[in-house]
Amino acid sequence: MQPKYQIQSFEEYQEKYKLAQENPEGFWAEVAEEFQWRKKWDSVCQWEFKTPDVKWFDGAKLNITENCLDRHLATRGNKLAIIWEPNDPRDRAIRLTYRELHEKVCQMANLLKKFGVKKGDRVCLYMPMVPELAIAVLAIARIGAIHSVVFAGFSAHALADRINDAQCNMVITSDGINRGNKQIPAKRVVDEALKTCPSVKTVLVKDCCGWTPHMEEGRDYWLDEEIETMSRVCQAEVMDAEDLLFILYTSGSTGKPKGVVHTCGGYMVYAAYSFSNVFQYQESDVYWCTADIGWITGHSYIVYGPLLNGATTVMFEGVPTFPDPGRFWQVCDKHGVNQFYTAPTAIRALMACGEDHVLSYSLDSIKVLGTVGEPINEEAWRWYHIHVGKEKCPIVDTWWQTETGGIMISGLGNHSPLNPTHAGYPLPGIQPILVDEKGNEITENEVEGLLCIKHPWPSMLRSTYGDHERCRITYFSHFENMYFTGDGAKRDKNGMYRIIGRVDDVINVSGHRMGTAEVENAINSNPHVVESAVVGYPHDIKGQGIYAYVITEEGCPNNENTRAEIVETVVHEIGKIAKPEKIQFVSGLPKTRSGKIMRRILRKVAEGTADNLGDTSTLLDPDVVEEIKNGYIG
Ligand code: WT7
Repeated sequence: MQPKYQIQSFEEYQEKYKLAQENPEGFWAEVAEEFQWRKKWDSVCQWEFKTPDVKWFDGAKLNITENCLDRHLATRGNKLAIIWEPNDPRDRAIRLTYRELHEKVCQMANLLKKFGVKKGDRVCLYMPMVPELAIAVLAIARIGAIHSVVFAGFSAHALADRINDAQCNMVITSDGINRGNKQIPAKRVVDEALKTCPSVKTVLVKDCCGWTPHMEEGRDYWLDEEIETMSRVCQAEVMDAEDLLFILYTSGSTGKPKGVVHTCGGYMVYAAYSFSNVFQYQESDVYWCTADIGWITGHSYIVYGPLLNGATTVMFEGVPTFPDPGRFWQVCDKHGVNQFYTAPTAIRALMACGEDHVLSYSLDSIKVLGTVGEPINEEAWRWYHIHVGKEKCPIVDTWWQTETGGIMISGLGNHSPLNPTHAGYPLPGIQPILVDEKGNEITENEVEGLLCIKHPWPSMLRSTYGDHERCRITYFSHFENMYFTGDGAKRDKNGMYRIIGRVDDVINVSGHRMGTAEVENAINSNPHVVESAVVGYPHDIKGQGIYAYVITEEGCPNNENTRAEIVETVVHEIGKIAKPEKIQFVSGLPKTRSGKIMRRILRKVAEGTADNLGDTSTLLDPDVVEEIKNGYIG
């Protein structure tokens, strides 16, 4: 029962690619036919990249949850939709069939309505990886509200910023979060955040730890108690294809995270299409993506993509190293996982723990392996291929972004040539190009350039929430008539793409995108700090680590205490994921005469390659470079 859009061979891929390039509208109309629409579209795609203004399936009406759930009830009602694996292997897994998931989503949807949530309202989710998170995502979509999932590692301050930017009127959270051998007080973070979030009227709290957190009278309610009496039937709200489905915040080169906006129809079509093709999901397979639903990977490839295809998707509450570094592989064997999708940083962390942990499991159910989030180095690729894939499984290296909504460049299961460290070829319907600094297209192979996309695709971002101009400037103003990804890439002699990494002031720490300006703002909010500059440097496990150069006020002791205090400030402002690994105290920063920080120099020093600094003659104060070089923390 594979959908018609699932490609079956490399030859078919090549044909489809050509077809989609020649006639994008015809191609996507055919894919879209596979879904359940309340009303079909008037036009497939209308677009211009100046404003930008992009519409897919305009005039069509649908609800994405009818496609994720109701559509499957007749044929897959008793098939498992979600297998939930708890943090502690001694606790019981939860298995939800499509019928059960449908009922739970309806109950949650009715509960949201009871608390006054309406179509178009924003609901913030700040939760651990428990089934209720996936259920809440779907329930929000079912009633036509807009979800904004905030990764539960963000601080109260960062959470409040995101809630206020979207003006959410409800937050769903839990008392605490089970993560490895730690428990994290989620509700306390929400309480702290809500001191500055007047838009929030209701907080629903899932009991995950059996705690008794503060419950604000008339605002906070226990989810489990409230949901019990709700009806298991809830009509889905009929949405326009271009109505908002969700907002997801991501970092850019300015200090303020932006709310990437995705809409119902196009996102649905592309999430489903890309999932089916990249992972080559077959009807009885069990698929597992280890991401958190707080990131786009979890939205598209734990929840929507798999459920749209009637797949069985594993959701994991825990971490790769608890109770030991064999946990991932134990879960693969336990549930018979057929497709396994994780991040290079996780592979490197487990690789560092030694082979024994992986060699004690059979892993013979695995057919396809995937990676996402950052370039994978050759060593990690080989380890993954040999020890996890037993040299018989293709590795799909999937390049995409929060903004693209779905996988853009990747192998398709075992139908694509394997080339370690290369994402490979674009999916049919995706038209990447490389351009030079001036925006001229580079058409040859064996070249390097800036990665752009020249034709819209259904799941591309439509806007940045509340600030459309920012969307235009960030993605559409660099080069005329193209979407600029912010990544540099190489194209080899066979036309395969290899992503090099960001060319803007964005760093990638453990596959998480961080804006250097965002981290600098956080550091600067420490009262001892006068100024700072942050760059990324190569890190064995995390891919990139954060290296901060900090000028403190006079009289401040530049010692370990001050370092710890600065780290604490960053954790408070953003969260643990933004912790600077290294802090070098400096008396000044290398600046041009116009006052711009020369990051190139700071990057070279942080990388440990300062012997070749290039031209520093335009600097305001060249002496400061010597000092910085001498103070390098290796
Ligand atoms: C940035 C997007 C897409 C989900 C996870 C991250 C980098 C992503 C790859 C890959 C090399 C990759 C890019 C991109 N990236 N996948 N397979 N190979 N780099 O989403 O937080 O929006 O970050 O992650 O630099 O621009 P995100």
